[in-house]
Amino acid sequence: VNDIDQLLKRPEFPRSSAYDPSWMVTNQMGPNAVWLLEWLTAEMNLSPGMRVLDLGCGKAMTSIFLAKEFDVHVHAADLWIGPDANWKRVVEMGVEDRVCPLRAQAHALPFAHGYFDAIVSIDAYHYFGTDQLYLGYAATFLKEGGQIGIAVPGLMQPVEGEVPEYLSSPQENGKVFWERECWSFDTAERWRERWERSGKIAVERVDTLDDGWRHWRDFEKAVEIAGTSPFPSDAEALDKDQGRTIGFIRAIGTRTSEESMDLYDPTIGVRLGVEE
Ligand SMILES: C[S@@+](CC[C@H](N)C(=O)[O-])C[C@H]1O[C@@H](n2cnc3c(N)ncnc32)[C@H](O)[C@@H]1O
Repeated sequence: VNDIDQLLKRPEFPRSSAYDPSWMVTNQMGPNAVWLLEWLTAEMNLSPGMRVLDLGCGKAMTSIFLAKEFDVHVHAADLWIGPDANWKRVVEMGVEDRVCPLRAQAHALPFAHGYFDAIVSIDAYHYFGTDQLYLGYAATFLKEGGQIGIAVPGLMQPVEGEVPEYLSSPQENGKVFWERECWSFDTAERWRERWERSGKIAVERVDTLDDGWRHWRDFEKAVEIAGTSPFPSDAEALDKDQGRTIGFIRAIGTRTSEESMDLYDPTIGVRLGVEE
């Protein structure tokens, strides 16, 4: 067993342990998406044949995992990563009958209202979903009773005033953990508040991952050993923090009503016949 295997095969994530660690570090775009998805889906109701939207799927590892583990049909939607590269990964993993990759902008989704049984989003929702109105918009693509679940990096306590020095100053390798996008990280309380106000989703749970920082740190170490990231590792800052500030948040809710009109929808003008 090499160092990477030792870091990435862990009892907390038994399903993930069946996947090749080098596949995970090669296709990673942040903290281990497969672990986060395993954690998320442990509390979601996915059954064979369901239609699932993987929103912000990155390199589609999570879409492949969903198809393999739950035998669901996945639309693997991402903005930065195009469908051609993702299709290759899908075919390589033998799930081409269940995963459809496409490029999509989360704020202008090209699907029919009520189409999906579930939406999942791993380490992506904070890039486009911190707007108070976004959840209500995303919910319109779920059928009544459909679930949305997200797992995102987040705050274990609010950052008030100054960011802790060890997060905002360079580590020994020169990398600064707290980049501008970290201001989109929120506490579980703040996510709960935002979701409860959406009006279209009944919130089932918002919670944090036990030892999230430790899993993140160890994944950073594995990626560093593998040399598969364009960025230096964040392990040192995460280790100094010991989970006081940084961890992972999971939020799951259910679509409550059939009513689908949403004023946040970019096509609302067309729908109402008022577009000039
Ligand atoms: C940190 S990466 C995570 C990717 C993948 N889920 C994973 O965990 O490996 C964030 C992803 O969010 C996607 N994203 C950011 N803004 C988006 C938007 N407005 N619409 C769709 N996807 C978006 C990016 O394309 C990127 O792949």
